[in-house]
Amino acid sequence: MSNVVTAESEIHGIGVFANRDFAEGETILITDDSRIVDDEHPLRFDLGEYDYHCDYLANGKVVLMPSPARHINSDCDPNTFVKTIGGVRHVIARRAIKSGEEITYDYVINCHGGIVWQCSCGSPCCRKTIVSSFFELPERTQKVYLPLLDEWFIEEHREKVEMLRRRADMKSSQSL
Ligand SMILES: C[S@@+](CC[C@H](N)C(=O)[O-])C[C@H]1O[C@@H](n2cnc3c(N)ncnc32)[C@H](O)[C@@H]1O
Ligand SMILES: [Zn+2]
Repeated sequence: MSNVVTAESEIHGIGVFANRDFAEGETILITDDSRIVDDEHPLRFDLGEYDYHCDYLANGKVVLMPSPARHINSDCDPNTFVKTIGGVRHVIARRAIKSGEEITYDYVINCHGGIVWQCSCGSPCCRKTIVSSFFELPERTQKVYLPLLDEWFIEEHREKVEMLRRRADMKSSQSL
């Protein structure tokens, strides 16, 4: 039995749904990042390859996500996050997930793009107008997401991440 299924989503188009219960910290799926998109290997619109199914990774690498990962919608209170482990990206449960729940992550984690779009995740804490850059998030959200950042993103933005960590540490020691 596969861990997830795809179906119509209330957030947007096709979404990915849990096909069983997951415990916090469990890997739900891994993504195959082997389909690189660059000048030599452009998207094939004739084959149904669309830019909104691309992901933007370390050193400007762009990949076309495979299905089902390509159908994961964004959420301002996501139930998963993505971490690279041994060179492979894992979609990991951020909390316990029940069978049938839509699998989501927040596109803005590990993102430094700047594109502005309207979110319709439906979460009570939806940020609505989304600027696709981690560092444009409200600082309290950046602090919540700090442990979820992928190592490549931390490497590429080490100075800013370290500053944020220092501010988060200062705040927690003040509240002791
Ligand atoms: C990787 S695809 C996600 C899967 C998509 N629902 C599908 O039908 O294949 C990314 C696109 O889904 C849409 N999307 C994802 N999350 C969204 C959200 N929270 N609010 C509005 N649109 C969203 C956006 O159009 C985005 O460009
Ligand atoms: Zn939202």
